[in-house]
Parts: sequence; C-alpha cells; structure tokens
Amino acid sequence: MSILITGGLGFIGSHAVLEFSKKEEVVIVDDLSNAELTTLNHLRTLTAKNISFYQIDIKDKTKLKKVFEKHAFSGIIHFAGYKAVEESVLNPLKYYENNIQTTINLANLALEYQVEKFIFSSSATVYGDQKTPFKETTPLKETANPYGETKKINERILTDLAAVNDNFNVVLLRYFNPIGADKSGLIGERPKGVPNNLMPYLTQTAKGLRKKLFIYGNDYPTVDGTGMRDYIHVTDLAIGHLKAYQYNFKGVEIFNLGTGKATSVLELVAAFERQNKINIPYQIKPRRAGDVAISYADVSKAEKLLKFKTQLSIDEMVKDAWNFEKNLPK
Ligand code: WQD
Repeated sequence: MSILITGGLGFIGSHAVLEFSKKEEVVIVDDLSNAELTTLNHLRTLTAKNISFYQIDIKDKTKLKKVFEKHAFSGIIHFAGYKAVEESVLNPLKYYENNIQTTINLANLALEYQVEKFIFSSSATVYGDQKTPFKETTPLKETANPYGETKKINERILTDLAAVNDNFNVVLLRYFNPIGADKSGLIGERPKGVPNNLMPYLTQTAKGLRKKLFIYGNDYPTVDGTGMRDYIHVTDLAIGHLKAYQYNFKGVEIFNLGTGKATSVLELVAAFERQNKINIPYQIKPRRAGDVAISYADVSKAEKLLKFKTQLSIDEMVKDAWNFEKNLPK
C-alpha cells in the first residue's frame, strides 16, 4: 500500500514526502502551479527512492482516478491548494473553485477506493481574530479572506463525510506559521512573485533581491509592538503529519500544529541577523489589513495524544531558511 501526497512538491508537502518516505511508499500528485520539478529530483536524491510522480490538476477527476486505479492507497495527505491570501481576495472564485473541487474529487475517490485515512492541511486562520492561545475546541470565527474560508469549508465537508462513513477517518491539522527548510538546503519555500509571508520576504531581503523589509505595524499590544506568531519549523510540522497518520484515529480528529510560543517580527529579524550575521534593512509601515496582534497554539492535545513535541528552535528556523535561500540561483 502507498500514501498519496497531493501538493507533494510544494513547501510543506515536500517536507512531508521526506518524512513519510522513511516509513511508507509515497506517490506524489502535483500540478506544478506553485512548485518546481527540480524539487522532485531533490526528493529522489534525499530519499534514495524512485518516488512516483504524476503532474495532474486534481480538479480533473478522470485523470486523478487513473492514479487510484494504478496504486492502492492506505491514506491521503492533502496539501494541494492555492494559498495566496491577497490573491484570494482579488479572485475569490479561483480559490473556491480550486481549493474545494480538489477536496471533493479526492474525497469521492477515497470513498470509491476505500481509502480509510485522510489528512487535511488546514490552517490556524480558521480561528479568525479572537483571544489566543487557540485550542482545537475554540469555536471557529469568521475568517478574514476567501483563502481562509476554503480551509473552513473543506474542514466541514470532510467532517460531514466522516459522520456518515464509518471507514472514512479524517485528521484536520491546523498549522500555525511554518518556516525554515530541510537541513540539506535542497528543498524549501519558493514563492512565485513578491512574497506575502514574512520569512521568504526576509530571506530575499538578506539576499539583496528586495531592498528592505517592511514591518507592518509597531503599535500592537505585544512585547515590542510588532505582530506575534507561532513559527514552527517545517521539518517539525512534517513530523507532526507522520505522528497524526500513525495515530489510531476514528471519525474526525483535529490537531493544532505549532510550538505554543509566540515570536514578534522584530524578534524574528533579530534572530535572523544574529544567526546568519547579515544585517536586514527594514522600515516600519502601517498595520496590514486582516492581521491579528498575536496568534499561537495551545499544543496540549497534540502533545498528549500524538506525543508530538517540536524540536527545532527559532534559531534553527532562521538558519535553515537562509541556508535554502542562499543556495538558490538568483
Ligand atoms: C507574519 C507576521 C505580519 C510580511 C498568513 C496567512 C495564513 C497562512 C500563513 C498560508 C505578521 C508580519 C509579514 C511582511 C511583516 N497561510 N509581516 N512584513 O499573516 O500570520 O499568516 O500566512 O498559507 O493563513 O494569513 O503570516 O508571514 O504573512 O506574517 O511585517 O513583509 O509578519 O504583519 O505579524 P500570517 P505572515
């Protein structure tokens, strides 16, 4: 039996492929809309396995079905999806159509082919703007954008489905802020165009691709006025997926994947400068629309049930993110 990893050449997906390949046979499906084929070569080198890959848009159910005919899957880890928050506001239909249709197609095929485990890549964004730390039982609030809404809708679809199908078991993993990269420096985050997220903007500034970093707001009620987030090393996050997969779940389980600690923008920049010995020019700008002051996870459920505890510190995250970026061709 194999495990299907959709979006397996993307940032988080590729790191999950590394972890799962240590234990299981992995099949990747990715449409390369936000990923590079070179990542596949790196994954094959790092795992020393000839991992199967299909370049398929999973909105195309006919093509996707062929993959299910060819391989017997014991589980699906579903990462594929559009994730640019701003773009989702400008082009909501693109997000609703893609992020929801893909999940529906996969869920249909999972039922048809009796795949019993389904892990969905969700986000802390489903908690909206409310008091943190967030617990898995915290009631969900309105999300700030269509991207966040697609995560919420997908959670609901999978939950409804598991309620009426005894052999369809779902884990919803709510990620906080994944950064860093595999220690090899071969795989990491490669956003197309101007990055929206802090870490890729920071590494590109370090490289001289961006003149300076803009820090959105220094008047939040936080340690230094800048926004605070729960940054988690992408390798820890990938290990969290494996632990969730190995956990004997029935029905629907939800886990936050974070560290339980919040770090401010200025603290992250300072750690980056210290660890990598690079000065980061920055400018304070007004707050960014839709941002919350602080977001971090209550990690007690994952610790207790999955025995999952993150290992990698902020210092490791900033070192590994830079180690990846500096090796990329300009
Ligand atoms: C982190 C902090 C910013 C950029 C978003 C989505 C979420 C998720 C991850 C993705 C904040 C500040 C940022 C910059 C800055 N989904 N910042 N200058 O906003 O927590 O989460 O990305 O797939 O759904 O909402 O992450 O990295 O954008 O921002 O000062 O150039 O850095 O204000 O405090 P965020 P982020």
